[in-house]
Amino acid sequence: MIMELDNTMDDITQITYVPKEGVKQHVTLRSLILSILFLVFAIAVVVGVTMYCIVSGEEEKEIPSVIKPSLPCQDPCVLSLVESIPENLTFPSGAPSHMSTYSGLQKLISLAQHSIEIASFYWTLLGDDLQYHDNSSWQGEALYKSLMKAGEQREVNIKIAQNKPEPDMASNDTFNLAKLAGAEVRTLDFGRLLGGGILHTKMWLIDRQHFYIGSANLDWRSLTQVKELGAIVMNCSCLASDLGNLFDIYWYLGEPGVTVPKTWPSQYDTNINITNPLSITFNDTMATTYFSSSPPPFCASGRTADSDAIVSIINNASSFVHVAVMDYLPQSQFLNRTVYWPVIDDALRRAVVERPITVRLLGSYWKHTPEQMFNYLHSLETISSHNIKIEVVEIV
Ligand SMILES: *[C@@H]1O[C@H](CO)[C@@H](O)[C@H](O)[C@H]1NC(C)=O
Ligand SMILES: *[C@@H]1O[C@H](CO)[C@@H](O)[C@H](O)[C@H]1NC(C)=O
Ligand SMILES: *[C@@H]1O[C@H](CO)[C@@H](O)[C@H](O)[C@H]1NC(C)=O
Ligand SMILES: *[C@@H]1O[C@H](CO)[C@@H](O)[C@H](O)[C@H]1NC(C)=O
Ligand SMILES: *[C@@H]1O[C@H](CO)[C@@H](O)[C@H](O)[C@H]1NC(C)=O
Ligand SMILES: *[C@@H]1O[C@H](CO)[C@@H](O)[C@H](O)[C@H]1NC(C)=O
Ligand SMILES: *[C@@H]1O[C@H](CO)[C@@H](O)[C@H](O)[C@H]1NC(C)=O
Ligand SMILES: *[C@@H]1O[C@H](CO)[C@@H](O)[C@H](O)[C@H]1NC(C)=O
Repeated sequence: MIMELDNTMDDITQITYVPKEGVKQHVTLRSLILSILFLVFAIAVVVGVTMYCIVSGEEEKEIPSVIKPSLPCQDPCVLSLVESIPENLTFPSGAPSHMSTYSGLQKLISLAQHSIEIASFYWTLLGDDLQYHDNSSWQGEALYKSLMKAGEQREVNIKIAQNKPEPDMASNDTFNLAKLAGAEVRTLDFGRLLGGGILHTKMWLIDRQHFYIGSANLDWRSLTQVKELGAIVMNCSCLASDLGNLFDIYWYLGEPGVTVPKTWPSQYDTNINITNPLSITFNDTMATTYFSSSPPPFCASGRTADSDAIVSIINNASSFVHVAVMDYLPQSQFLNRTVYWPVIDDALRRAVVERPITVRLLGSYWKHTPEQMFNYLHSLETISSHNIKIEVVEIV
């Protein structure tokens, strides 16, 4: 938690690991979509390791009597990548540029007619969480105002599922949204539900028709100070309703006193998954898509687990795997007992050893970056050979 608040732009180091040359230049929409989903999954899974738990003696899931086939989605889905770029970080002209996370989220709030559902980690949209004023908090503040207005003036129903705040961090934003904008707020206590972990999902769901999913926290820094990537998808109720099933699970688990059910009731099921992805047209380009989730106890019947999705997408790569994460750590980070968890690390090694593909890994160097991360990255580097190029990029 404190981790993500402790933003020190000055000491970001990026480590790029390039075992082979020849990056495919042609980036198709499909690969873009895959990369963004992969990124989101990767972030989820790195955190998922936190909540790594073995569900022993998992029961056979009841086979549903009616298998709902997922028909191709007819919605005219429009997908835009959105990104936050730290203030004063400027790229050469001609570099790819995307809509800002801020504009994308403002657009989503403006579209809302009935409901805004947000799944979030922590909330610090206002700059007053610091002793001094930083001008770059204005975007977070403006977003907060828009959300407040949507609830107060347009009577949009706002539902917020948030992670249980740390004792030293008042959740002022959600408290005030509840008080003034009629927002319903539920808090998930992973310690109580699973013995550890956090709600790390960042999802905005509008009228169960449009959505944002990505890495940006409800933090003003996530709009102007931290590199974030996400996707905004509009006019896409097929996918939004599946995301709604995930939101409903968080919503249920935010009720006081509930426990994680052994088998989720069928209303949370999905028939869109790794073996049965949804055919969908994004911006006139046909693609197949599904949402995965973690930790596994949060997966209802039919839902693919994040780790399976990530390993599958690595296994399927034919030319490159590019990974951008905050931490890269094939072990538990927040459990009392250290657990080695090499599922993704193994898949990357296997991919690069067995197939002529390029792996590039971008990790972030923060004040709180675990020391072992560098050892693991160097360990990946050492398996490279003479025809394998290693690139280390440091941004100070
Ligand atoms: C899809 O279309 C929208 C609206 O025209 C555009 O903003 C967006 O960048 C497009 N997405 C991609 C991935 O090309
Ligand atoms: C960006 O540059 C402006 C003008 O030099 C400065 O006032 C501001 O503090 C800088 N922002 C950051 C985050 O360094
Ligand atoms: C919450 O609000 C109180 C009172 O306005 C303030 O003292 C405190 O710093 C705020 N906390 C955060 C995290 O913004
Ligand atoms: C911050 O914003 C205020 C008001 O918009 C402006 O007067 C001031 O110069 C800005 N400070 C910096 C360091 O950009
Ligand atoms: C981890 O250790 C702390 C302190 O010893 C304890 O309070 C907590 O319950 C332990 N958590 C788990 C999941 O065992
Ligand atoms: C979504 O659909 C509405 C109604 O058909 C249309 O007006 C709007 O432009 C569409 N949005 C996008 C981003 O294509
Ligand atoms: C995916 O969904 C289909 C259709 O509901 C189901 O038959 C299949 O078992 C699911 N796959 C997984 C891996 O859950
Ligand atoms: C991986 O490739 C197999 C065979 O080409 C395909 O059936 C499967 O859908 C692909 N999976 C993903 C996640 O792209």
